[in-house]
Amino acid sequence: MCGIIGIVGNRPVAGRLIEGLKRLEYRGYDSAGIAVIQEIDGQSTLVRRRAKGKIVKLEERVKLEPVDGFLGIAHTRWATHGAVTKTNAHPHFAGQVGVVHNGIIENFTELRGALKDKRSFHTQTDTEVVAHMIDEAMRTGLSGQDAFAQTLKQLRGAFALGVVIDGVAGQIFAARKGPPLAIGIGDGENYIGSDAIALSSLSKQIIYLEEGDWAVLTDDNIQIYDAKDTEVKRDITHITGSMAAAEKGNYRHFMRKEIYEQPETTAHTLTHYIDAFNHKVKTEDALKLKGLDFKTVERVSFIACGTAAYAAMVAKYWFEQLAHLPTDMDVASEFRYRRPALTDNTLAMAVSQSGETADTLAALRYCKDHGLQTGVLVNVLSSTMAREADYVLPINAGPEIGVASTKAFTAQLTALLSLAITAGVQRGHIDTQAEKRLVDSLTHIPRHINETLKLDGQIENLAHMLSKAKSVFYLGRGVHYPLALEGALKLKEISYIHAEGYAAGELKHGPIALIEEGTPVIVIAPSDELFEKTISNLQEVATRGAKVVLITDNKGAKHAHNMVPHIIVCPDVSPVTAPIIYAITIQLLSYHTAVHLGTDVDQPRNLAKSVTVE
Ligand code: M6R
Repeated sequence: MCGIIGIVGNRPVAGRLIEGLKRLEYRGYDSAGIAVIQEIDGQSTLVRRRAKGKIVKLEERVKLEPVDGFLGIAHTRWATHGAVTKTNAHPHFAGQVGVVHNGIIENFTELRGALKDKRSFHTQTDTEVVAHMIDEAMRTGLSGQDAFAQTLKQLRGAFALGVVIDGVAGQIFAARKGPPLAIGIGDGENYIGSDAIALSSLSKQIIYLEEGDWAVLTDDNIQIYDAKDTEVKRDITHITGSMAAAEKGNYRHFMRKEIYEQPETTAHTLTHYIDAFNHKVKTEDALKLKGLDFKTVERVSFIACGTAAYAAMVAKYWFEQLAHLPTDMDVASEFRYRRPALTDNTLAMAVSQSGETADTLAALRYCKDHGLQTGVLVNVLSSTMAREADYVLPINAGPEIGVASTKAFTAQLTALLSLAITAGVQRGHIDTQAEKRLVDSLTHIPRHINETLKLDGQIENLAHMLSKAKSVFYLGRGVHYPLALEGALKLKEISYIHAEGYAAGELKHGPIALIEEGTPVIVIAPSDELFEKTISNLQEVATRGAKVVLITDNKGAKHAHNMVPHIIVCPDVSPVTAPIIYAITIQLLSYHTAVHLGTDVDQPRNLAKSVTVE
């Protein structure tokens, strides 16, 4: 959601805060702001600049009216409370206090009410009240630190906070309850940031605050306190590896770069899960899954949101077919509230690129609290979910910056298929021959993705047709049904064209009423055992005037060549890996449609990469 950065240092901070914000822009980008403590006429003064729009607008504003100092905080916003306006942009000030905030203060109305006779509020945000509360507490004689600690106790909700106080020499206050907050250790400087990416050009030594922690940073000292105000030591993580993956390189968009990285990223995922040389899945020891044995698991319960939920939905088919293991998939935001009947020996498995999605994290904690064993399939290994789950299953896709998930999706699928095979082997449903056959199919994934990427030109031409549509439908059966849902999600989120995905057999139960002359319908149907049934559904829409695009293989194309105007012919692949390969075509289709329409592909409107509010 929103992104936070702060520096308490020994040299000017404004330029570096704005650079750091740019790395956080993926978390939200409707407005941005910076506050520093600046010497004006020999007096230290808390000053700020804010702008509606992306960070470049803030940058322009700071160029026109410079501010700088040795201590500052900055913020990029994804609005939750209050319209997208400059007034509602952070940092929020009250008296001497400046605050940046990510998350939601749930009891803000009550807190505002308590101060209404003493204070006037200038914004519609849930954040402003925090600044007033700290300022008010200081007026009663409390130190900045005590005022901050006292205020934290009164806040309900999920939040990460960064606070600066004019007149409190050289200190930044930070707190984390819910959304992540990292501290970077520097040389004569210290930093706060929503994640390690924000701090990557500043520090390689990171401390992740734990749930309920708060901290006081000066240029040469970091004190961390837990929720009971006891001073604690937290581990330092040394960040390694290049941040190159967070740069666009020669690509026009991060999304395009990330689509093209997929032969490599799926290969990285596979290295972790299979032993290609011996044609075997890796054992649980090699997976560092000590203690997790699918033989003793009676049910897998996946919880996830958005694209990750569609990956989990594909996995439901795989776990049931390959491992004969009863499997559920719940959208995380619904999971807790339907009060699921949890049974012993259920493995609750969260799937999340970021590992920070609020709904998924809450569902994971719910399962833990109810005594289930928990796992997370995750890209960001330093994330909260990775720290809290019993078993951590990495997907190794590298940083994904484009808001629309692409390489994380195929890496999730690749890891989930490997795990389903592992479960099948452990449970005795896959013998050595079948294991060899399946593992060999997995090893072809990177090459098949590479071949599919060559369809780019053809897909770009088809995207011109899609870009004129009012509404687009995606159909699929079996494992390709979740892929139809993902295709529709991908198209709507970056091109803003209305799109829906359906199980191909379900269309005639209502949605077919929406088909009219020229409505594009994308049918995902490799020539597998369900092909003929899907083709019947294809004909049902074609005879009603739909403009059908069939995504299939050579055999499927031969069969359907005189039924549909457009066919995208994917490489011939094993039915089990087909969803991973066919995912590339729907990603390219959305990408080119969005580019053709001129939307902001990497930062589409109203969205954020990491959704840390419920
Ligand atoms: O980080 P997560 O995988 O938990 O995120 C879940 C969804 O918010 C995410 O997949 C979202 O749907 C993407 N924008 C889809 O492209």
